[in-house]
Amino acid sequence: MSAASAPGKIILFGEHAVVYGQPALAVPVTQVAARVQIRAAARGCRILAPDIGLQADLSALPAAHPLAAAIRRTLDALHQPAPPSAEILITSSIPVASGLGSGAAVTAALIRALAAWFGENLPAETVNALTYEIEKIHHGTPSGIDNTVITYAQPVFFQRQADGAPRIERLTVPAPFTLIIGDTGLPAPTKTAVSDVRQLWQDNPSRYERLFAAIGSLVRAARQAIERGQPAHLGPLMDENHALLQALTVSSPELDALVQAARAAGAWGAKLSGGGRGGNMIALCPPEKASVVAAALRRAGAKNTLQTTVQT
Ligand code: PMV
Repeated sequence: MSAASAPGKIILFGEHAVVYGQPALAVPVTQVAARVQIRAAARGCRILAPDIGLQADLSALPAAHPLAAAIRRTLDALHQPAPPSAEILITSSIPVASGLGSGAAVTAALIRALAAWFGENLPAETVNALTYEIEKIHHGTPSGIDNTVITYAQPVFFQRQADGAPRIERLTVPAPFTLIIGDTGLPAPTKTAVSDVRQLWQDNPSRYERLFAAIGSLVRAARQAIERGQPAHLGPLMDENHALLQALTVSSPELDALVQAARAAGAWGAKLSGGGRGGNMIALCPPEKASVVAAALRRAGAKNTLQTTVQT
């Protein structure tokens, strides 16, 4: 038997602009996780993913299915000619299509569980690169931030450079801070939001590049506040980032209502997180206000809230 797990994630600052080469900050969310267990079976390689109602032999899945593609690519990386004779059980407490990185977490856990099955420990860079390849199936043109924060399970500063290579720097967080994550309960495929923004950018590149650059400046200011141990300074930066995401058309009435409710309940700042249009928002709170903010979010329509502390 072998097993591995990977956390969820949220983007603190910089979503969407990160697809266009701007930096972004993301942190793991360890309250939720994807888990993969592999157990020996007499023959065949059977995949069980009860959360998505999947029960199938690997040989019956199309080659472009994200789980099948992840298994095949990992076997190649491990120089293994054949899949294990095994049952692969995939479970996850990360809500799907909500900006918490469920796809990338399942992939990273699957890659690590398979490597462990064959007695190997793939370097993080390899797990990250393989997970990124599968993210392309999920998202179309991902920046690579989701797979990176989930693979390293650390707060990260991420930027895709002009040559396509990722610049990945671990963030140090001298003063931990509290976030409440509020879920609109509306699944929102990141792929659609990303391709809509691409269309807007193609129609009016100078306007959208100005917005992306403004988001990039906020990301750099936020990194400084975090690394100087001044988390309260992030509040106004979050509010500004949310306004810029509204200008990119990726907010929604439900997200805006949650963001407003969090601010009214005493959050230092709040914004949508991830692809937008639905999914999750985040609110930065003084720790003593966390439960009041979470209750206000539920009253304003959040289907679920999670509290997490960002630290290193
Ligand atoms: O919806 P999520 O959390 O998977 O985040 C996507 C973040 C985007 O910047 C919108 C896309 C990307 O690939 O970075």
